[in-house]
Amino acid sequence: MITTRDVAEADWDWVLAESPPIGGPQVITGGFLHRLKDHPAILAEEDGEKVGFAVYNPGGVRWEILGILSTIGRRGIGSVLLDEVEARAKAAGAEQVRLSATNDNFPALRFCQLRGYTLRQLIPNAIADNKKLKGIPDDEALLGLYGIEIRDEIILNKNL
Ligand SMILES: CC(C)(COP(=O)(O)OP(=O)(O)OC[C@H]1O[C@@H](n2cnc3c(N)ncnc32)[C@H](O)[C@@H]1OP(=O)(O)O)[C@@H](O)C(=O)NCCC(=O)NCCS
Repeated sequence: MITTRDVAEADWDWVLAESPPIGGPQVITGGFLHRLKDHPAILAEEDGEKVGFAVYNPGGVRWEILGILSTIGRRGIGSVLLDEVEARAKAAGAEQVRLSATNDNFPALRFCQLRGYTLRQLIPNAIADNKKLKGIPDDEALLGLYGIEIRDEIILNKNL
């Protein structure tokens, strides 16, 4: 059974170690750099094992998911985490949840669209700008899923 709880101080090492698929311990969305550890997060566990997390940025009417990840796909972990963020947002009076995916990330784009998120904004070449913000040299293309170069950011949102 998949259960969720708040990420505690002792869980952060695990969360940050698992964070590379969502961009690492510091993620950039919409041109802003966020240190994951500065934000609230939800942990998913199955039989006491950590199997996923969602880090979010709560804000008035619009909450943002900075990263959502499951370590074992297609078992319902991502859905439980997404439902939990949305429930918290709704309970706090938010009207919208937003998240970003890169241009190669068809599994996430599919996952989110099947759960009510719509594509709202494309930020072309966002990754080059993000590398500058993180101080990473932009001399090599980053290869993403399916061998597609990771280049752009796509923002999706869902009205609650
Ligand atoms: C996107 C992501 C979070 C989805 O998580 P997930 O745990 O695979 O999600 P779920 O298992 O809830 O749903 C995925 C699919 O598996 C299906 N599924 C769930 N439980 C299942 C089961 N027991 N047996 C078969 N299929 C199942 C779901 O119905 C869903 O199918 P659908 O997309 O056709 O509706 C995951 O792919 C991931 O961690 N990606 C890497 C990080 C990332 O890109 N994050 C997004 C950007 S921040």
